[in-house]
Amino acid sequence: MKRALITGVTGQDGSYLAELLLSRGYEVHGLIRRASTFNTQRIEHLYRDPHESGVRLFLHYGDLANSEQLTNIIYNLKPDEIYHLGAQSHVRVSFEMPEYTGDITGLGTTRLLEALRRSGIKARFYQAGSSEMYGDAPAPQHEGTPFRPRSPYAATKVYAHWMTVGYREGYTLWACNGILFNHESPRRGETFVTRKITMGLAAIKAGRQQKLYLGNLDAKRDWGYAPEYVEGMWLMLQQDEPQDYVLGTGETHSVKEFLTEAFGYAGLDWQEHVEIDPRYFRPTDVDLLLADASKAKQQLHWSPRVRFPELVRIMVDADLEAAGLKPIGEGKKVLERYFGTWHR
Ligand code: NAP
Ligand code: GDD
Repeated sequence: MKRALITGVTGQDGSYLAELLLSRGYEVHGLIRRASTFNTQRIEHLYRDPHESGVRLFLHYGDLANSEQLTNIIYNLKPDEIYHLGAQSHVRVSFEMPEYTGDITGLGTTRLLEALRRSGIKARFYQAGSSEMYGDAPAPQHEGTPFRPRSPYAATKVYAHWMTVGYREGYTLWACNGILFNHESPRRGETFVTRKITMGLAAIKAGRQQKLYLGNLDAKRDWGYAPEYVEGMWLMLQQDEPQDYVLGTGETHSVKEFLTEAFGYAGLDWQEHVEIDPRYFRPTDVDLLLADASKAKQQLHWSPRVRFPELVRIMVDADLEAAGLKPIGEGKKVLERYFGTWHR
């Protein structure tokens, strides 16, 4: 049985990845932060009391700020694969907390790489790189496009990217970077724009909210469906050689288009409900992200099936249901068609 360690297991991607690895027979270990309230909602459905027999998901307290704990976990577990997804992942927040973001998202990666190097364990290592690193580099962006980061978060991810390359080349660690374009789902954090929109419109539909306040509606993103991206992460670690790969859909849409699609699907006009609040603008934003994922398509045979309107429908249906309303139903159909299940 293969053993995997996931940092960020309580996040959107970590929860889908844990699900995927468990379904493939792995023993999965996740790093979680100590909090005074439960922060494990996204993995609750996977968790079982470790006293029961046949349990394959285990959680360990730890923080990316604390190298001692990271070293102990790696040394004691001796994982075959490490998926490093933990991060302060919010771009707007990184402008308010640049030093903290550098510590957790940047140095956190170095702490893990160094713990792995010192342990002498031959684990395969995945580093969660981001399309945000491309900043204002011309689209479409691919593995050879130079990084031009425009936020503390992006600069920090560039650092983590090159540290991973450095440990691969300098110490022959089996380490790779996924450069993932935006991927969303009903488990997306509530303050990222897609989820903020689908939750907001569900609250408006339910009569609990009148207005939705947003920032820059002109930014364009290459938005895909998160469960397909964690499959890509896994594929990267199954290759003969560690390499870096871009994952994305090859389609780009503006926040305005997301609004039109989502509100239109729910039978509403977004212009009657959305107001602009300057507080949600960033000192520097990224205008246009568009993936050229041909390397992943050729080498990993990875290509996402869920397209933009389908993604929007999946998210709107899920948030309508969560708000106690009847889902419209197209999102459910998409999931059943591609994945044979209405899993969220
Ligand atoms: P997410 O939902 O924000 O999850 C982040 C995870 O990191 C959470 O489990 C969080 O724990 C954990 N974490 C934060 N600070 C930590 C610390 N100090 N010590 C230990 N764990 C910590 O992010 P995501 O969307 O799943 O993304 C996963 C990774 O991919 C991130 O590195 C992100 O930057 C990167 N990425 C995401 C996208 C995307 O579109 N989603 C695209 C490219 C790259 P809590 O639950 O306790 O907060
Ligand atoms: N969050 C947010 N909130 N964004 C808004 C809002 C708002 O109210 N209004 C407009 N936007 C715009 C942002 O300015 C940005 O241009 C775009 O919507 C997307 O913002 P986010 O959803 O916060 O995502 P992101 O693209 O900045 O970052 C996400 O994707 C990266 C990959 O490119 C995060 O998941 C990062 O962790 C990830 O690396």
